[in-house]
Amino acid sequence: MTTMESLIGLVNRIQRACTVLGDYGGSDSSFSLWEALPSVAVVGGQSSGKSSVLESIVGRDFLPRGSGIVTRRPLVLQLHKTDEGTQEYAEFLHLPKRRFTDFAVVRKEIQDETDRITGKSKQISPVPIHLSIYSPNVVNLTLIDLPGLTKVAVEGQPESIVEDIENMVRSYVEKPNSIILAISPANQDIATSDAIKLAREVDPTGERTFGVLTKLDLMDKGTNALDVIEGRSYRLQHPWVGVVNRSQADINKNTDMVLARRKEREYFATSADYGHLASRMGSEYLAKLLSKHLESVIRARIPSITSMINKSIDELESEMDHLGRPIAVDAGAQLYTILELCRAFDRIFKEHLDGGRPGGDR
Ligand code: GDP
Ligand code: NA
Ligand code: MG
Repeated sequence: MTTMESLIGLVNRIQRACTVLGDYGGSDSSFSLWEALPSVAVVGGQSSGKSSVLESIVGRDFLPRGSGIVTRRPLVLQLHKTDEGTQEYAEFLHLPKRRFTDFAVVRKEIQDETDRITGKSKQISPVPIHLSIYSPNVVNLTLIDLPGLTKVAVEGQPESIVEDIENMVRSYVEKPNSIILAISPANQDIATSDAIKLAREVDPTGERTFGVLTKLDLMDKGTNALDVIEGRSYRLQHPWVGVVNRSQADINKNTDMVLARRKEREYFATSADYGHLASRMGSEYLAKLLSKHLESVIRARIPSITSMINKSIDELESEMDHLGRPIAVDAGAQLYTILELCRAFDRIFKEHLDGGRPGGDR
């Protein structure tokens, strides 16, 4: 394991521990370690292809599907790369110690857990669901799936839903530590993209936005998306990545992800328009790009994260003193856990600064 891989793992564990104490990305808490730690937030309009992109990055079908607002709570998805040949499994923070190996059951649990908080209505809630996936086929990465931006409330939803969703999504992407994965469909004018509109607002220089163009295969014959992909329509600091996800027909036919990834590779390799960019297109490339970027952001932020953690250790210690013998055993135990994680984090940062090879051995 490289130094940087263990750092991403520690960031994951601290974020999970914080969430148990009610500190998560979308909260207004003044004590927010979460905010000091970087993660990737997925934003876009409804049906722009957010779930499809996430599933392609993971290489598994596990997200609830359907029309309307399916994602009604943030889903914090932590990917942990394991050794070749090990069994792939998923674990929810709210169901510790239960290993899910059937991803259809993972999907069902995301739905059920969404309903537990939002009460089966079409309400939304900012309280995240935490899911970890352990697999030899993923890259180390933390992604947050957010409800899709909409323009109108539908039957059964309060009028305020459009604004509520936008505010929730904004609360995640406005944090300077948030990396924005902005999803736009290629078969719509980029000028109308909800993702780009919001990204432009919170990150005007485009330094923490990754633009993803989906549905390249659905563009009108004779047109292409080179103006967007080559940065002429809307310039970002990072290169645009085009992807081809499974169509609804593919999903209905149960086309598996392995075949879908192969078809995507073939699409780019044989494309008259995008062939020259083939090595920098597609969901596998996107996953690697994001993981590398997350590592470099953590590395660049080591000094500020360290000082934040030292502050947190002080606050946590005085909190522990204050509690004396913890009143609520769980809360006390969680504080200890966070303290331990912060100390481990601090120690590894220092080792990294003192002699770690920058970038590990990638
Ligand atoms: P979300 O609402 O943003 O999460 O969007 P989904 O991932 O659920 O996708 C919405 C619909 O668009 C589904 O029917 C997908 O199969 C389809 N879709 C998404 N990406 C692509 C793509 O790249 N090509 C094609 N043909 N269909 C896509
Ligand atoms: Na959808
Ligand atoms: Mg979705």
